[in-house]
Order: sequence, then structure tokens, then C-alpha cells
Amino acid sequence: MISLKDKTALITGGTKGIGLATTKLFLELGAKVIICARDVESLSREFPQVKAYKVDLSDKKLLNSFLDEISNDINKLDILVNNVGTNIRKPTLEAQDSDIETVFNLNVNTYWKLCKTLFPLLSKSNSGSIINVSSIASKTYVKSSSLIYAMSKGAVDRLTKFLAAEWGKNNIRVNSIHPWYIATPLVEEVLNDKEKVKEILNKTPLNRIGTTEEVANTIAFLASDLSSYITGVDLNVDGGVSL
Ligand SMILES: NC(=O)c1ccc[n+]([C@@H]2O[C@H](COP(=O)([O-])OP(=O)(O)OC[C@H]3O[C@@H](n4cnc5c(N)ncnc54)[C@H](OP(=O)(O)O)[C@@H]3O)[C@@H](O)[C@H]2O)c1
Repeated sequence: MISLKDKTALITGGTKGIGLATTKLFLELGAKVIICARDVESLSREFPQVKAYKVDLSDKKLLNSFLDEISNDINKLDILVNNVGTNIRKPTLEAQDSDIETVFNLNVNTYWKLCKTLFPLLSKSNSGSIINVSSIASKTYVKSSSLIYAMSKGAVDRLTKFLAAEWGKNNIRVNSIHPWYIATPLVEEVLNDKEKVKEILNKTPLNRIGTTEEVANTIAFLASDLSSYITGVDLNVDGGVSL
């Protein structure tokens, strides 16, 4: 029943982890998919039908020219998946000013900038959907993460709720999803540590690490018209850990 036919979707960081699973699922569901990442070569080889922009979103100049380019290349945008993200795992007292700048620049500023700049294209959709990839860390203490990451995801949540309230009148829905540990390159270091995995599983009711496909399924639901009356929601994809 779920279909993204005739919809154009931009997925930031659509080449690895959660973004890659979302790219694959969106293609299966019939969407026209656009992605961006710093390295797009292998994705472009495997999925030549995907329009891929090679860009480092944390570089303000490159980000601006990417946004100019995409605004020239397409007439409307139906789905924006703000997915890029990074973490610098350090105890709070060891974190540097440069760490918070790096994390906020990618995890918060790019989300804000893409929402704001792509608003004219999203409002042409008449059923626009923005999905911001946050984290369970925005809501609860995650020992193996970091304060700066949790703060950045908290900011994503405020961005989501505020825009949902402001842009409902433009038929743009804005929701966030909140994964717990999902096996991707971003958390390889944590998931390679047997003790940490034991600790994670002990507090996860479903007693397993989530898959990128399970997160992609949630994103697809929020992107599709099946969720047409849902906006401003912060949906956990967490195996029940928040319980
Ligand atoms: N995995 C988890 O357990 C988990 C849990 C909660 C939330 N999340 C969130 O889920 C989102 C996706 O995470 P993931 O685990 O799938 O990460 P990932 O496997 O590291 O993939 C990140 C994607 O973003 C791209 N990217 C990274 N930095 C970029 C930059 N400066 N400019 C452009 N593209 C960039 C990467 O491609 P390139 O390296 O080629 O640029 C890649 O396609 C993030 O927002 C993360 O915070 C993840």
C-alpha cells in the first residue's frame, strides 16, 4: 500500500547506514531520489538512477553552492530527509570548543539551512514532508554517547516542533525520528565493544540492535501520504529502550 510514486526526495547522507537503507527503500517505493555525501562514487555505480551531489555539507561555501544547484535543478521537492550526522564521543570535561562547533555545524546548522532554503520547493509539493533524524540521545542519557551530541539532537527536536507548527499552513509536515543503537559505520566503535553491547542489550526490551532497514521503514511511513495527518511527532525507533 505504501507508495512514493511521483514524489521527489532528497536524502542527505544517503550513501551509508540509515541514509543508504532509506535510498534503497525509496527507490523500491517509486520515488525519484536525490542524495548528497562527501563520497558518492560507489552509490552512483550501484544506483545510476539516483541523482547524487558530491558535497561536504559542513563547508558553508560548498553547502551554499549545493543549495543553489539543487534549487536550479528541480521544480519541487516532496520529501526532505535530514539525515547527516556525526558524534565526537568524549567525556564532557575533555570536549573542546572545536568539537561542539563540528557537531553543531553538521547536526544542527545543515538541518536548519536545508529546511529554510528548500522551503520554496517543498511548499510547491502540496504534501511536503520533512523527516529530521534525531536520536534517542535527545531524550534520555546515553552513557556511551556525548553531551554535545545530545545537545545537538535536542536542537533538532526544537527545529522539528517549531517548523511543524509554523509550516502546517503550507502543507508541509515536519517530524523527527529517534533511533537507539542501529548497526552503521557511525557507531561501529561502540558496537565492536562486547561489554558495551551487553549493556545496550540489557536495557533494550526487544533485546537486539536495530537494523538500518527498520529505521528506513519508519522514515518511509512519515514520508508517505499514509501519515498525512501526522506532524510534529518525535517517533522513537528504539526497541523499547525509552521505557
Ligand atoms: N547509527 C545509530 O546508532 C544512530 C542512532 C541514533 C541516531 N542516529 C542518527 O542517524 C543519522 C545517520 O547516522 P548513520 O549511523 O547512518 O551514519 P553513517 O553510517 O556515518 O552515515 C552518515 C552519512 O552521512 C554522510 N556524511 C557524513 N558527513 C557528511 C558531510 N560532512 N557532508 C555530507 N555528507 C556527510 C556520509 O557519507 P560520506 O562519509 O561519504 O560523506 C554517510 O552517507 C545521523 O543523524 C545520526 O546521528 C544514528
